Amino acid sequence: MTSAEIHKRRVAAVARGVGSTISSYVDHASGGTLTDVDGREWIDFAAGIAVTSVGNSAPRVIEAVQRQVERFTHTCFMVAPYEAYVAVCEQLNGLTPGAFEKRSALFNSGAEAVENAVKIARYHTKRPAIVVFDHGYHGRTNLTMALTAKNMPYKNGFGPFAPEIYRAPMSYPLRDGLDGPAAAARAIDMIEKQVGASNVAAVLIEPIQGEGGFVVPAPGFLPALAEWTREAGAVFIADEIQTGFCRTGSWFASSHEDVEPDLITTAKGIAGGLPLAAVTGHASIMDSVHVGGLGGTYGGNPIACAAALASIETMRELDLAGAARHIGSRITARLSELDHPAIAEVRGRGAMIAVELPDASTAASVAAQCHANGLLVLTCGTYGNVLRFLPPLVMPDDVLDRGLDILTAALTSR
Ligand SMILES: Cc1ncc(COP(=O)(O)O)c(C=O)c1O
Repeated sequence: MTSAEIHKRRVAAVARGVGSTISSYVDHASGGTLTDVDGREWIDFAAGIAVTSVGNSAPRVIEAVQRQVERFTHTCFMVAPYEAYVAVCEQLNGLTPGAFEKRSALFNSGAEAVENAVKIARYHTKRPAIVVFDHGYHGRTNLTMALTAKNMPYKNGFGPFAPEIYRAPMSYPLRDGLDGPAAAARAIDMIEKQVGASNVAAVLIEPIQGEGGFVVPAPGFLPALAEWTREAGAVFIADEIQTGFCRTGSWFASSHEDVEPDLITTAKGIAGGLPLAAVTGHASIMDSVHVGGLGGTYGGNPIACAAALASIETMRELDLAGAARHIGSRITARLSELDHPAIAEVRGRGAMIAVELPDASTAASVAAQCHANGLLVLTCGTYGNVLRFLPPLVMPDDVLDRGLDILTAALTSR
């Protein structure tokens, strides 16, 4: 069956609200490429939105999943527990920044992890307010839509939204020209004047914004916010769902600024493509919730846990944090060489790199040209004018370079 034939069936069967970047249908995928059902190869600069960091169908993940499927597929950890869930929590407690005692809880999706982090912070502090940031993205459930900044397509027409969410100005060096401490002072002033420190349950922030445009805050912004949050008796939550698991060249992006968040949300890259998410943090905060207050039927499903353990092992053995730094410097070197007037900024960390272009239509037409030439790239940003690159961290140099050839040709044809 061809992509065109499947697409015709899709239009008649799949809800229109679920979009796709390309209209080719995948047959199989590997460490750096996807092959569609028409036999066409795509170089993958998307990794399923930062998920398949260890590659698609990574060898250790296949083996671990197969072994687990043969043993049992589901018992529900809340009913009949199993070791793999405990082992994933142990790994998360050890890998996340901070040498203090930690606990973790597992869920299915990023949005669900964020919802639970908010639940835990409110329960622990007995306060209502959650502070989020301009351009932030935290998901599409009702609470996480309220936490997400951008209206279209995520929120438009889906309200009313959850209350007690307050949006502070983000540090966006290209646009605000402020250094980190000055941008933090601006955000803190807003919080103190408009929310009141004693009402704040949590400050929730992506250490590098994902959907919002790969916005890297100016140095000093995150540490100053984390310090204010602790002094205010609130919980500092880092949403590392997109930045986590080696993507930015270190296990977690908070470490680049020596920030030790009270809670960290993770998902995406954690399990090689299987649905798994987590909240990890201070034992005193995590354990404040009563027994039965956290959970869900599928959270920490044994197959996803087996995949996570195999993915983490792969990241360690192949030093995928080092690979992310290598990929990032290769992409940045090629893009910086261009010195093209349409490129406002090349930014990011590790294998999470973006270019900001003048407007959404330029970004869309560069992306379309990349797609026409077999390179899968994504756009993002509040203004839709950012192209982002999130290749699998196992992508070989020759595939990466072929992708960069296509990308640089598309950019310079503007
Ligand atoms: C920073 C961040 N938080 C939360 C989410 C939501 O995750 P999910 O789509 O798994 O619900 C995303 C997804 O893109 C994200 O990038």
